[in-house]
Amino acid sequence: MGSPLGDAAAEVLRRVYGYDSFRGQQQEIIEHVCAGGDAVALMPTGSGKSLCYQIPAQVREGTGVVISPLIALMQDQVDALNVLGVKAGFLNSTQDPDSRRGVEYAFMDGKLDLLYLAPERLRTESAQRLLDRGTVSLFAIDEAHCVAQWGHDFRPDYLGLSVLHERWPAVPRIAVTATATEQTRAEIVSRLALGGARQFVASFDRPNIQYRIEPKNEPRRQLLRLLRTEHPGDAGIVYCLSRASVEKTADFLCSEGLTALPYHAGLDPRTRTENQARFLREDGLVMVATIAFGMGIDKPDVRFVAHLDLPRSVEGYYQETGRAGRDGRPATAWLAYGLADVVQQRRMIDDSEGDLAHRRKLVAHLDAMLALCETAGCRRQQMLAYFGETGTEACGNCDTCLSPPSVWDGTVAAQKLLSTLVRLGRLGGPAFGAGQPIDILLGKKTPRVLSYGHDSLSTFGIGGELTEGEWRGVVRQLLASGLLTVKGDHGTLALTDLSGEVMRGERPVTFRRDPPKVPTPPRSRRAVAAKAQGGGAAGGRGIAGRGGAGVRAAARVADVGRQGTGHAAVRDLPRRDPAADRGLTALDAGRAQADQRRRRHQAGQVRPGDPRGTRGRALNAAYWPRTQSPQ
Ligand SMILES: Nc1ncnc2c1ncn2[C@@H]1O[C@H](COP(=O)(O)OP(=O)(O)OP(=O)(O)O)[C@@H](O)[C@H]1O
Ligand SMILES: [Mg+2]
Ligand SMILES: [Zn+2]
Repeated sequence: MGSPLGDAAAEVLRRVYGYDSFRGQQQEIIEHVCAGGDAVALMPTGSGKSLCYQIPAQVREGTGVVISPLIALMQDQVDALNVLGVKAGFLNSTQDPDSRRGVEYAFMDGKLDLLYLAPERLRTESAQRLLDRGTVSLFAIDEAHCVAQWGHDFRPDYLGLSVLHERWPAVPRIAVTATATEQTRAEIVSRLALGGARQFVASFDRPNIQYRIEPKNEPRRQLLRLLRTEHPGDAGIVYCLSRASVEKTADFLCSEGLTALPYHAGLDPRTRTENQARFLREDGLVMVATIAFGMGIDKPDVRFVAHLDLPRSVEGYYQETGRAGRDGRPATAWLAYGLADVVQQRRMIDDSEGDLAHRRKLVAHLDAMLALCETAGCRRQQMLAYFGETGTEACGNCDTCLSPPSVWDGTVAAQKLLSTLVRLGRLGGPAFGAGQPIDILLGKKTPRVLSYGHDSLSTFGIGGELTEGEWRGVVRQLLASGLLTVKGDHGTLALTDLSGEVMRGERPVTFRRDPPKVPTPPRSRRAVAAKAQGGGAAGGRGIAGRGGAGVRAAARVADVGRQGTGHAAVRDLPRRDPAADRGLTALDAGRAQADQRRRRHQAGQVRPGDPRGTRGRALNAAYWPRTQSPQ
């Protein structure tokens, strides 16, 4: 083979784990750490990071101390190692004093290859003194991204890990993680004082996972269709945002004849442990869970990971989907996403506690996730670029590669929607969600429209060229790209600094055309009872070839005078919202221009069907710089 250390490592790989060869950079990393070097290893989910510290711990003299946030899994991990004949123990808060003492003595006597330690224990003086009384062969910091405050999974206890270098400068350290943007990586290196460590950076790509994101219509029916048509009898994980929807979804799947188990933090610990054990042990179970489930779960044959709600960050999405296909065989990562998700997440950020910087971080994370959902380009390419891997080819194994979506020039539609909101704002009445402005644009004389006199707004009835579903798609994409936002408890729509640019015609807007809704198969009686929740459904028709009446109607004089001059809200408007006001005037003036663009569009000079339209790319390019370096 090569060096004696390399030979020893390969021997452990074969004898203990039963594997013939190392994967990826494992061998290099292991040899480097065996020789006493510090390392930072960034490797994809499920790629075998554990061996990168477990093998050196067995080759080197003394005990490898593993810092891990996965307290609930330590027992399992240690049991699994013991089965392989590796002498391992753990110390965390779940343990009774007797077994703790047993582990401590084993460590001091030099009888352990590996000691798993919860980060909050390491902070205690007693744990630090204990480590002084034995021989530590290396420190491994698993899930090292937890040290990064900018990251998605920050654990305050991880900040205490700087003590490792200060107190035991001679002991080699290896930090491993599967999710780190450039920013997070820099934070790991600086907070753990690993500036001198060798960095091993593998591609984060998981080529066997097919990434798919589709509009949310009837999420549970859509999920059922996926499981029945593509994954009958397969094991998989379904992620939901709330405990209630976990329960409902698990019930729904069971009522449809699947074996599904719930998992969330509200269940009693015994049920949780039992459900997790069943999922790991049995074949073909569907685990319906909140994100409380999954970190550290190493089940090789998870064939699908489905998200019924929007993840909060690309990091979270990558980690969660990374639990699929760890055996390298084809697997599906499927996400249903709609307008309600965007509204809900934006609102949650608004309501969240913490300072401005924290909120800004949440916004940046969400924006990156939304950009991934709305891209017309390759999902994988975009995700990898987010983690700093640029210049990759379109993958051919994601929904947008397999059936490229078309894009359309949505500037006029966006102007109509935004100007309706400006007009509603000027009336000084209550603020609204997406429903009211869409009803107004569609010219629907609903009781709510009539009671507020919204049928006399100049934008009433000017949006007949799009369906209601398409308008919801417009709102969703405006929200996703920060051209619109939500405010307050009820998720009402509000303009942003950028809205004015759209209304003034300074910022063209390109939308992705949602794929047509797949007709729902007839429901079983139980399923009808389990009422599906709705999201924004957009049909497959575009703006081209229709409209006209709308633009004519829009050319009518602004409605400020008609709608109650003298109202404080209207008098104050220029001061309160100058951008919106300028935008409104410009909208009226700039309609001819928009109309011209629309005619060009109809004449085919703008290709609405170009799946990789430059506009789409420009729009995405506009997202990325903002989300990648959010200051
Ligand atoms: N060289 C190898 N050959 C074959 N299988 C391997 C090899 N190295 C690791 N594995 C297996 O790959 C699986 C995933 O390993 P591991 O749990 O270490 O992944 P990970 O990189 O820590 O993933 P995560 O980011 O999800 O924590 C395990 O079942 C492990 O036994
Ligand atoms: Mg791991
Ligand atoms: Zn792709």
